[in-house]
Amino acid sequence: MKKRILTGDRPTGRLHLGHYIGSLKSRVELQDEYDEFILIADVQALTTHFDRPELIHQSIYDVAMDNLSVGLDPEKVTVIQQSMIPAIAELTIFYSMLVTVPQLSHNPTIKTEAKNYGYKEMTYGFLGYPVSQTADITFCNADLVPVGDDQVPHIEMARKIVRKFNDLYGTSITEPEYKLSSVGRLSGLDGNQKMGKSMGNALYLSDTPETVWEKVRNGVTDTNRVSVKIPGNPDVCAVYKYHKAFAPDEAENISSMCKNASIGCVACKKKLAETLNNLLDPIRERRSYYESHLDEVKEIINSGTEKANKIGNENIKAIKEKMHVAL
Ligand code: TRP
Repeated sequence: MKKRILTGDRPTGRLHLGHYIGSLKSRVELQDEYDEFILIADVQALTTHFDRPELIHQSIYDVAMDNLSVGLDPEKVTVIQQSMIPAIAELTIFYSMLVTVPQLSHNPTIKTEAKNYGYKEMTYGFLGYPVSQTADITFCNADLVPVGDDQVPHIEMARKIVRKFNDLYGTSITEPEYKLSSVGRLSGLDGNQKMGKSMGNALYLSDTPETVWEKVRNGVTDTNRVSVKIPGNPDVCAVYKYHKAFAPDEAENISSMCKNASIGCVACKKKLAETLNNLLDPIRERRSYYESHLDEVKEIINSGTEKANKIGNENIKAIKEKMHVAL
């Protein structure tokens, strides 16, 4: 029996290279070894975008297509729509009794995110999303969650909730482990620490080659390097970080050419755009197939959700029996 992975994305827009490096790439690598569940977390998207349901609707398709386009095989992975899994909603309520409000408000990720949305505006639903994420992971007894470092507090909270729940009710819900992405976080070409939709510095998987070049061309390099003739410092160059992330074999060479001024920033950026476009070309090709076969995308989501519901319904039934709420 293969171990089960559950991971997912909030459908609030298209996925970008940060998602690719942080998660999608390893999803593709792990799809043979694991029974992989890819959750489209539309309920979680509502916690911040409740007033933009049409964006969420469109993004469910976009996120599914982004996942399929990077090479996840719909014959191997199970794509799930969160709002269509009643077991997740029910478990969220049961788990919510075992988590205190201070535990949630001290969660570092919640704290950071709350800063962006404003503490005063924080809803009950938003504060509770780590609880609902615990239900996402455990309704199907997932063993492993591949995550970026920002999600670690959530998995730790999930483990605590599950332990407490199992102790109380004698259930045997799987305590999930996490696997940190080995590459770490992708910074922005603008020099920002993080690539993000909300930062306006995202390079999307579905960007055209022209857009990729445009974004790379505007990337920040060593600001002291005012002329091609003077040597550059790759350590302070946002573009160089991308060479390291996407063309690790060539990075050493590019670094020495920069340091001895034998390559200029424009040529170096052209190289990067080429690397990225080579990576994105097959992704674009698969995406364009799915874009003209939206019915197929919908069917992949629906049949994955149906399969997940068989598992979820069975588990929730057993859980309710253990809890003695079933008559
Ligand atoms: N919170 C995750 C994010 O913002 C998305 C997500 C929802 C998720 N449910 C999950 C990730 C379960 C892993 C497991 O990216």
